[in-house]
Amino acid sequence: MCYAIPGRVVELKGKIAIIDYFGESRKAFNEFEDLQVGDYVYAQGGILVQRIESNEALSILETFKEMFFKLQKVDSRISRIGGPEPKMVDEKFIKAIKKARQGLSLTQEEMLRLLRTTDSQQLNILFKTANALRHRHLKNSCCVHGIIEFSNYCKNDCYYCGIRKDNEKLKRYKMSIEEIIELVDYAVNRLGFKAIVLQSGEDFWYTTEKLIKMIKEIKARCGVFLILSVGERSIKCYEQMYKAGARGVLFRFETSNKKMYGKLHTTLKFEHRIKLLEAMGKLGYLIATGFLVGLPGQTEEDLMNDILLTKSLKAEMWSFAPLIPHPETPLSSSKMVNINTVLKVLAVSRLIDSKAKILVTTALETLDKEDGRRLGLLSGANSLMINLTPAKYRKLYSIYPGKSGDGKEIEENIKETIALLYSLGRAPTDLGV
Ligand code: 5AD
Repeated sequence: MCYAIPGRVVELKGKIAIIDYFGESRKAFNEFEDLQVGDYVYAQGGILVQRIESNEALSILETFKEMFFKLQKVDSRISRIGGPEPKMVDEKFIKAIKKARQGLSLTQEEMLRLLRTTDSQQLNILFKTANALRHRHLKNSCCVHGIIEFSNYCKNDCYYCGIRKDNEKLKRYKMSIEEIIELVDYAVNRLGFKAIVLQSGEDFWYTTEKLIKMIKEIKARCGVFLILSVGERSIKCYEQMYKAGARGVLFRFETSNKKMYGKLHTTLKFEHRIKLLEAMGKLGYLIATGFLVGLPGQTEEDLMNDILLTKSLKAEMWSFAPLIPHPETPLSSSKMVNINTVLKVLAVSRLIDSKAKILVTTALETLDKEDGRRLGLLSGANSLMINLTPAKYRKLYSIYPGKSGDGKEIEENIKETIALLYSLGRAPTDLGV
C-alpha cells in the first residue's frame, strides 16, 4: 500500500530539489546530504522524506501510471462547473462566486455573504466552486496521513473536550515510547504511510527528553514526515523537537474570539497560544491549525475571523472540526451543528486559500458517518487522516463521543478510504508544493 508516489530528482538548487512526477515538476526541501539528480524519492509536506531504489520506484510508477491518469480524468469530470450561469436573484452572492472563480480575493462582506447562505441552490454553487478551485490549483492529489493518539491524560480542562482532566469517568491510558516507535515503524515500513501525526492530551509524563529520544529513533528507522500534536510546550522544547527531526505541528487555536476563548478555557490563554503558533512557524514547522465550528454563541463573523486567522498564521494544513458535544463536559447540552455550516466553512476556506491542504477531520466524518468524508472532499478538502491508534486505546481517546472509525480495523479503514478516493478520482499522494 502506498500513500505517496515516488518522483525523480531532475535538478538540485542548493537545498531545493526539483522532482518530476509524470511530466509535472514540484519543489521539495532536501535534507539528504548525498542526493543526486536521477535519484527517486518520496516527498511529503514539501520535504523529501525517503529515498527509494530506482528499480523499485520504476515498478511502482509503472503500476500507478495508468491509474494516475484515469483518476485525473474522473476528477476533472466531477469538478467541472458546467452549464449556463445559474439565474440568481441574489446579485451579491453571485458576484462573490464569480470573483472567487476568477481567482480574485474576497472582501469580508463577501465572505460573510457566502457564510450566511442557507439556500440549497446557492450552497450547491458554493461547494462546487470550492471543489473546482481545489482541482484547478492542486489537481487530484489527496494527502492521507496516519494519526496515533498515544495518551489521553491531559492537564487541561477545556470545556468542550471529553479528555479534560475533570472527566473522572474516563479510563486513562498512555503508550510507552517503545510502543509508539514500534507502531510508527509498522505504519511507515509495512503499511506505507509517509506522514504520521502523533497526538496526545497535554501529558507531561512525556518530557522533552522522552519526546526527543522518540523522534530521533523514529527518524532513524522510518522515512516519514512527523507531525506532533502534544499541546503547549515551551518554545525551547519545540526547537529541540525540530532539531530531532519533527517537521510539522497540529495545534488548533480553537476560536479567534478572545472572549469566547476565555470562557472555554481555564488553564490556557489565547495570546499565548497564538504566540506559540507564530514561534513554531519561525522554527520552520509546517503549521496545521484551525478551530471549532458550532461553539455556543459563535456567529458567522467569528467563523470568518477564524478563517482569516488561520490564513494569517500561514497554515499549510487547515484543520477545523464541528463541535460534537460530549456528555461529560460543561458543553454537554450544546446544539449539534448542521453539516452545511461545516461544509460552508470548508468551502469559504478554499476560496480564501487556494493552495492549502484542507482536512476532512474525523469530527466531520462523525457528524455524518455515511457521507461526511465524501461531502468534505467535494467541498474543497484535499486531505484525510486514518486513525492508527491500537483498538484497545482508541475508544478511550474520547475527545467527543461516537468517533467515526472507532470499531474499525486499520486495514479495513485504509481499504475504504482508498475506494472512496478512487471513486472521486483522487490519488492518495502528496506531491509537495
Ligand atoms: N468536538 C470536536 N472536536 C473536539 N476537540 C476537543 N473536543 C472536541 C469536541 N467535543 C478537538 C479540539 C482539539 C482537538 C485535539 O480535538 O479542537 O484541538
